[in-house]
Amino acid sequence: MLTAAGGASGCDQEILAIAHASVASRLRLWRPPNAVLAGMQRMVLSQMAATTQALEIRGSRRLTGTVAASGGKNAALAILATSIMAQGPVVLEGVPQVGDVHTMLGLLQRLGSQIAVHRCGSDGDLGPYWLHLQHPTDGDGQVDADLVRQMRAGFCLLGPLVARYGRACIAMPGGCRIGPRPVELHLAGLSALGAKVEYHSGFITATASKLRGAVIDLTGPCGSTVTGTINVMAAATLATGRTIIRGAALEPEVVDAARFLNSLGADIRGAGSSTLEIHGVDCLGGGSYRAIPDRVEAATLLIAGAITAGEVTVTGVTPRHLDAVCRTLREAGAEVELGLDRVTVAVPRPLNGFRVTAEPYPGLPTDLQAPLTALAAVAQGRSVLRDRVFPHRFAHLTGLRQLGARVARHGDAAVVDGGGYALDRQGVTQTVAATDLRGAAALVLAGLARTGFTQVCDIAHLDRGYQHLEAKLASLGADIARVAVAADDTARLMPLWAARSA
Ligand code: EPU
Repeated sequence: MLTAAGGASGCDQEILAIAHASVASRLRLWRPPNAVLAGMQRMVLSQMAATTQALEIRGSRRLTGTVAASGGKNAALAILATSIMAQGPVVLEGVPQVGDVHTMLGLLQRLGSQIAVHRCGSDGDLGPYWLHLQHPTDGDGQVDADLVRQMRAGFCLLGPLVARYGRACIAMPGGCRIGPRPVELHLAGLSALGAKVEYHSGFITATASKLRGAVIDLTGPCGSTVTGTINVMAAATLATGRTIIRGAALEPEVVDAARFLNSLGADIRGAGSSTLEIHGVDCLGGGSYRAIPDRVEAATLLIAGAITAGEVTVTGVTPRHLDAVCRTLREAGAEVELGLDRVTVAVPRPLNGFRVTAEPYPGLPTDLQAPLTALAAVAQGRSVLRDRVFPHRFAHLTGLRQLGARVARHGDAAVVDGGGYALDRQGVTQTVAATDLRGAAALVLAGLARTGFTQVCDIAHLDRGYQHLEAKLASLGADIARVAVAADDTARLMPLWAARSA
């Protein structure tokens, strides 16, 4: 059942242009034709090249209060990509205003989708998006290469496109630099469904007049694959007959994508277990859906409470999705209280070191390894944080060291010798550059725990996946501000900081 845009309570009725970045999302146009949109995106890209943004943090403030989680970034991205198979209109609520969502909307728009974006709530920039999508009945499945190289989730278009239009051509995806990110399981799964998959000069082409059900195993060397499961599962919904996927990823984002597809008329059974059974249907209709809350953002906010020895409640969450991080926070000595849709963390006494391993769900998410490494830096004693999903995901350690953390990498683990509550008690001003999304969050968290000023540059990484993190942290009492700087002149920040600290 499609919800009419006009009936959207709490939503303003403004239709916004689809934009590629947060700067562009402030441009307000009525459904721009392709040429206008392309020009707008070029303008935004050149603006982004000329300026960059940084967060300034004056640390050592105890965070307290309540903050709401945003809609899940990775869930929304998977749902947006798979929605291209819907023949009817699709309404998505609670979609976070983050860079990767803008990139995905750009990808869909280039594929011919009609998209209207509403901003919800009175606080405009801070509220979620409410999206209306109508995808084209026909297409050549040619995915914009520049956009798909900017993130991983765009690759989830491959299966849905070949299932719906019989052809997809997509560049190898980009995304955070967190170690090797192969796609052979995606391709093997689609081949098993009968697609002809070819690689040429950095592009994958998949063709099939009609996919057919198959038995597929998606178990990889580091467990299953989240986006691979979504890609293959989605394609199988329009295949002839029955598909069995073994070694399916259990992550809540996979379950959410399955629930969304079922709401459009797909027949996917077993989501949340390692075996999926999919009975192909002829077509998918339209529908209305709200993605699950962002468990990684929620956990990041809880860690912000813990790292500042504060007391923070995050609302609008699914607490069982946060089980592993709550266990880790308790192991570190924090008090954690679970409600129906909320989690509270409080730190009445110094934290102690902890040992964790990032693993596929229901294990601790790899996306929290970096934020928890920042937390370990303020705990007393030694912590060991191992990452079994992305064993090379440690680029953030350099920045954390600059901010005063005593951390070393040993193979697939970070070993942290924490020294008590505040990092870098001398109050030195320090500038660090973000290298990837979750690493950026870790640097911001460390900044909150430092005695001095911290500048975190290159926060475009952060903005890809966190919706105005600084506003949420400020609402909890953090002294944090966003500043724009010339991209080639980040050094100019230093005098600015010196002035602030004086
Ligand atoms: N792998 C293979 N072969 C494949 C695919 C994956 O060996 O064909 C391996 C990977 O190298 C890795 C492991 O399997 O060792 C898991 O990778 P997975 O495919 O599950 O990761 P992903 O689907 O590319 C998603 C999230 C990531 C999150 C991981 C793990 C999206 C868009 N991305 O990536 O999120 O870290 O699952 O949970 O859903 C983030 O949000 O910051 C982020 C990186």
